[in-house]
Amino acid sequence: MKQWSGQPRVLVVGGGAREHAIVWKLAESDDEPTIFCAPGNPGIGECVQRVDIDAMDLAALVDFAKGQSVNLVVPGPEAPLAAGIADLFAKEGIPVFGPTAAAARLESSKAFAKSVMKAAGVPTADYAEFTDADAAKEYVREHGAPIVVKADGLAAGKGVTVAQTVEEALRAVEDALVGNRFGESGHRVVIESCLTGTEVSLMFFVSGQTVVPMLPARDHKRIYDNDEGPNTGGMGAFAPVTAFVDAGLVAVVERDIVRPTLAELARLGTEYRGVLYVGLMVTETGPQVIEFNCRFGDPETQVVLPLLSSDLLRVMWATATGSLAADEVAWKPGAAVSVVLAAQGYPQKPRTGDVITMPQVGAGEDFDSGTSGGYVFHAGTAEQDGRIITSGGRVLSATGWGRDFEEAKAAAYRLADAIHFEGKQMRTDIGHRQDL
Ligand code: AMP
Ligand code: GLY
Repeated sequence: MKQWSGQPRVLVVGGGAREHAIVWKLAESDDEPTIFCAPGNPGIGECVQRVDIDAMDLAALVDFAKGQSVNLVVPGPEAPLAAGIADLFAKEGIPVFGPTAAAARLESSKAFAKSVMKAAGVPTADYAEFTDADAAKEYVREHGAPIVVKADGLAAGKGVTVAQTVEEALRAVEDALVGNRFGESGHRVVIESCLTGTEVSLMFFVSGQTVVPMLPARDHKRIYDNDEGPNTGGMGAFAPVTAFVDAGLVAVVERDIVRPTLAELARLGTEYRGVLYVGLMVTETGPQVIEFNCRFGDPETQVVLPLLSSDLLRVMWATATGSLAADEVAWKPGAAVSVVLAAQGYPQKPRTGDVITMPQVGAGEDFDSGTSGGYVFHAGTAEQDGRIITSGGRVLSATGWGRDFEEAKAAAYRLADAIHFEGKQMRTDIGHRQDL
């Protein structure tokens, strides 16, 4: 692994629970880094120094990083990656843990991702892409339901309609291509066949030819217990997934999905660095790709990073500088569960401004006798007159870990139950079943 020149000075970009989990884990590093987070959130402010710069103000981020001699940049969300944050910092000679804009197109254009997969022979649903509504509608009528309609571009997790009827699919086409529902992002749509099976999120550290899997995790997207109600940005997660994922399946995903995708990107002149998130449907005939993301998943990160036994800073540094070795990444035994506490009205119209009261436990310390522990990662929170208030749909990510799921769930729910704000919504079944 390449050595640091001087002390590590890290800039994490973003301000959600994923970024809180990242800075919390980075802060554990033996290399004693100085960590900044722009813009962060109140919870992040308890761990590291916040910087008042928006995640999309790339020029200001570069100025700040140069002024502070930052020597590693870690973008959390997809938007700055799609906008070229890695390209910009590379020009300044500052290593970035994240892909270039060209490589991030695996997430920022679903049509691009599908074309890469098709060229690489990667298993994924059959598809066609359209900019013309009439042609798209004809395709829907020809193929029938269920069928999946996706806005091509970034749509903050809202661009996908899994239509159970032809009418629903036609409406999704009309909304995107004619109604401008997703703006520019929806002026092209991908229409694909509906896969059936069980979903799992598998993230990889990718650094040139080195590909290292993380623990498989599972996101719970529906707002209510038993996977009912509308889709959300994620109501909780658990890791590892063991019921239908084993080392053999992970190896198949690496061999048949990740490596051919990276090879096709390389053929197009693009190298990948950072996290490649593979959203999979495990079907009767094997794993199929639902989507690629070019960064850590949220809420998956909140359960995967607590189980990482390696030094995250060293792993990120090695990944960013192209010197990662597979044996640098090791995992703890046990399990982690994260329960998202959402605001009243989420996901349609979240109310903000409610005062949050939280227990003191979980400030990074085990609150049991050493076997289980927990931490509350902040997402949509703000500070007002010395109090913490809700400021977004997903407010907090109460996370617990332990030797097994029983301990992890108990730790997560002990924290989640002890947090109060008006209208708090949460699922009570996160981690209860591996296939939900
Ligand atoms: P995405 O925004 O790409 O993560 O998609 C949101 C959700 O839609 C996924 O987590 C899946 O549950 C579902 N989905 C997307 N594509 C398909 C597909 N081809 N077949 C079945 N479900 C899908
Ligand atoms: N958990 C899904 C995502 O991060 O996009």
